[in-house]
Amino acid sequence: MVGLLALLVAIVVFTSAHWGLHPPSRVETIDSTSLHAGGEFSEANLGTMIAPDGSAVVRIVAQQYAFVPDCLVVPAGVPVTMRLASADAVHGFLVQDTNVNAMVVPGYVTTVRTMFKDSREHLMPCHEFCGVGHQAMWAHLRVVEREKFPFDEAREKAVSCARH
Ligand code: CUA
Repeated sequence: MVGLLALLVAIVVFTSAHWGLHPPSRVETIDSTSLHAGGEFSEANLGTMIAPDGSAVVRIVAQQYAFVPDCLVVPAGVPVTMRLASADAVHGFLVQDTNVNAMVVPGYVTTVRTMFKDSREHLMPCHEFCGVGHQAMWAHLRVVEREKFPFDEAREKAVSCARH
């Protein structure tokens, strides 16, 4: 019994030390109280842009109780970097039917790199309880064929399919 207890404690110590040495994607900090004041997560930058290397960068703000923009569009078969910041509480970020799943913690930028193979629509619910409106907090992610994605426009400005 004592041996088992010692083993469990050892596991806890080892895993916390391990994660302490390898922080999980929480290394980039940001001032969550001034997202709208300018910078990377200002409103004009939210949505999908095509980087000089041809990959897509999606910027999203998670706030009570919506993702901004609430409809995202990305090209299929292209590397995608998703960058999220929270304006208030801890939110959860999940793209259904994919392995994209992360927390969005105030003060940090959440970065997820992925690629979507097939053109289809995914639901993107908040999966971390963030207050009374949590149930209504979700967005759409639309993966479209490369030919249907406005690459030229997205090199100049952020694009999305959000309702205005
Ligand atoms: Cu945001 Cu739950």
